[in-house]
Amino acid sequence: MGLLLPLAVCMLATSCMVASLPEQVLMPSPLLLSHGCNNSDVLAVAGFALQDINSDRKDGYVLSLNRVNNVQEHRQDALGSVYYLTLDVLETDCHVLSKKAWRDCGERILHQSVYGQCKAIIYVNKPRRILYSPAYNCTLRPVSRRKIRSRCPDCPSPSPTDLSDPKVLEAATESLAKYNKESTLKQYSLFKVTRASSQWVFGPSYFVEYLIRELPCTKSPGTACILQLPDSPPVGICKGSLSKRGLEKFVDVSCNFFESQELVRILTVEEPQQKNTALTDSPSEVAPKGSVQHLPELEDEQPEDSKGKSPVEAFPVQLDLTTNPQGETLDVSFLFLGPMKEQLVVLPFPKEEQRSAECPGPAKMDNPLVLPP
Ligand SMILES: *[C@@H]1O[C@H](CO)[C@@H](O)[C@H](O)[C@H]1NC(C)=O
Ligand SMILES: *[C@@H]1O[C@H](CO)[C@@H](O)[C@H](O)[C@H]1NC(C)=O
Repeated sequence: MGLLLPLAVCMLATSCMVASLPEQVLMPSPLLLSHGCNNSDVLAVAGFALQDINSDRKDGYVLSLNRVNNVQEHRQDALGSVYYLTLDVLETDCHVLSKKAWRDCGERILHQSVYGQCKAIIYVNKPRRILYSPAYNCTLRPVSRRKIRSRCPDCPSPSPTDLSDPKVLEAATESLAKYNKESTLKQYSLFKVTRASSQWVFGPSYFVEYLIRELPCTKSPGTACILQLPDSPPVGICKGSLSKRGLEKFVDVSCNFFESQELVRILTVEEPQQKNTALTDSPSEVAPKGSVQHLPELEDEQPEDSKGKSPVEAFPVQLDLTTNPQGETLDVSFLFLGPMKEQLVVLPFPKEEQRSAECPGPAKMDNPLVLPP
């Protein structure tokens, strides 16, 4: 509970602002410590940061940690440390609204992988059991299909399909209709298609994933249920497919429902975590700020003869709470219960050249096709 309370307070605080540091207290170029990227403390902080990123997001799929790419620690005297993390990540098959922990989510198969990089700033105060991430940003790209094809030209695999393709909507609608028909009581409507691919099997086949909402009426023969609660949230995610052979249609569907948020909250409050590391937390209580940017496959952007042009950063991720090389203060008093004003010093995100020889760390999936260059 000692941890949960300050974090709840943190959620209510609106004045989590960066303020300029007065000239006279500027420190001589602050010391950043490099750590190995396979260090167990670093991995624990990285795992928490990613959990935090996932729980902050409202859209997209849960990201899992593939490897720690870089880490710098900035010690803050008695207050603990601020870590600057660069993480190489992979998209999993769990939607963020499922609120599943990234470790519990499945990997995508190689030719459907989406991978990228996140940067996160995270404040760690072990004695006070505080973990707080004021900011993150990520950039993702789908795996290069050209590279996959060049390795395995004859491997059949579905190609990603534009979500606005009417065939995609048809596959979602038809598969959901099948689900509703087989459902004994509740009825669902399509909220949003989240992923789609297509492949020629014995005719055109479309594979879709989509969020569904619950309709506020139960099944009764002969009546259409079109009423919709205006703000009803998605309650689950379905995987469906529609394949055609001549005039024959084959429809497949399976749906998974999200745990209700109320239930998740009760469980986190009633089960204080008793692990021996201080790096545990209730992720749903923290609200870091950031976004996940989706870019196209790498090759699409880089023409063959890019000579003369300055090299484009493959996974640009901007994360700077300040541009002042001396740093600026970040008020974190709301994380503490006392009346004291507690301030951290945050720096511009360290450059990539500053890194330990033991970075990047070992990758869980070390195929170069899913590792940012
Ligand atoms: C995160 O990235 C966006 C652009 O994708 C940028 O506008 C924003 O300033 C970044 N956040 C920080 C804290 O740098
Ligand atoms: C990373 O750490 C684990 C556990 O400490 C160890 O088993 C593994 O060999 C290490 N890997 C590398 C590449 O150092």
